[in-house]
Amino acid sequence: MAERKKTAERFAMQDFRRVRQLLQSRRPGHALPQALYTSEEVFAFDLRAIFARSWVLAGLECELPGPGAALALSVGGSPIVVLRDKTGAIRGFHNSCRHRGAMVCAPGRSQRPVLVCPYHQWTYDLTGKLVGARRMQESFDPAAHALRPIHVRNVAGVLYVSLADDPPPFEAFATGLAPLLAPHDLPHAKLAHEAVFVEKGNWKLVMENARECYHCAVRHPDLALTFPTEIKAHFAADEHGRVARFEARMEEAGLPVGPTMGPWWQAIRFPLNEGVVSMTMDGRHAVRPLMVDTLGGDIGSVRFAAEPNSFCHALADYTFVFTADPSGPQETIVTAKWYVHRDAVEGVDYHVESLAALWLTTNNQDIELVENNQRGVNSVGYVPGPYSEEAEALVGRFTDWYCEEALAALDRMG
Ligand code: FES
Ligand SMILES: [Fe+2]
Repeated sequence: MAERKKTAERFAMQDFRRVRQLLQSRRPGHALPQALYTSEEVFAFDLRAIFARSWVLAGLECELPGPGAALALSVGGSPIVVLRDKTGAIRGFHNSCRHRGAMVCAPGRSQRPVLVCPYHQWTYDLTGKLVGARRMQESFDPAAHALRPIHVRNVAGVLYVSLADDPPPFEAFATGLAPLLAPHDLPHAKLAHEAVFVEKGNWKLVMENARECYHCAVRHPDLALTFPTEIKAHFAADEHGRVARFEARMEEAGLPVGPTMGPWWQAIRFPLNEGVVSMTMDGRHAVRPLMVDTLGGDIGSVRFAAEPNSFCHALADYTFVFTADPSGPQETIVTAKWYVHRDAVEGVDYHVESLAALWLTTNNQDIELVENNQRGVNSVGYVPGPYSEEAEALVGRFTDWYCEEALAALDRMG
């Protein structure tokens, strides 16, 4: 057994030797070497080294309204399920049957008293315990075949999961983010709309695009109406004292602005453009009642982002969540969700069309940019170029983080 394990490890090492070379050949402050955006081998490596380890945003607590509510999704190609058990506690499991591995829950949301595998009907309770397995022999031990749990953390209503046995430290992130999100009362929000996009681009190109607004002024004219596209790195520079005035106003109203930042996250409440109060096509609130009615909902946006794959905006009237899941070396599934106050009634207090228009437009524009980026990266003439230190600081942080995590994973494997 030990010998077999050793062979498997040697194979993994050999498998990924080229990945180490690629990572080591990367020029700091530059886009990544070509194969890191294109190859099957790197794709397989990323799923294991990055997605099977990091804290990944799974959804909002409000998507699990009561006992038995479940949300099944993919994390780096691995199916998982998060659910609320009978006591109201939120749990997460690998969505892979302990019989022959079938997916127990179909992707999406459901409500169920127990989890029944569709293949041979092995049945699990909401704690993951196997409570039914027909026609199994006397010697079979159900207790040894519970669903395998995954780590789940809830930060002010936002659920993060990690598939690792020993996940990266989480506390500093939770402590930094929770006060920023608390006024938005996300545990009592409701999901108003969801959209799924298939992008023909490597997940790292999708995320690099999502970590900069260098392209926004020209390529997202609608977003540029409300979002300060020329804002400096981390929203830190303060031209004309606008940020300082905003921060003073927020502080007086009791709304923390942060920022909080760590190796794999950033979060800050920042001011929108002058004269607008939401990230919508016309800059006005698209939903009533507001999630935060402090100062009439003129409270900027809390942008919170976590590597490897999410960014979110908590506005006064809605919260937007973006996540990306790699589905191939050059394909990524992006999920976008819009959450509103739980009492807001569709067709009366908001219209999905006006709520979602800005981010749908922006995402469609980004798909074009990412796919075009991928096509150019695939060229025999591709040479990784330098990031703008000012406009692409967060892209640099993302690729630095990726390379460090990837090398650390190789060290662990080797
Ligand atoms: S694979 Fe689930 S019951 Fe057989
Ligand atoms: Fe964009």
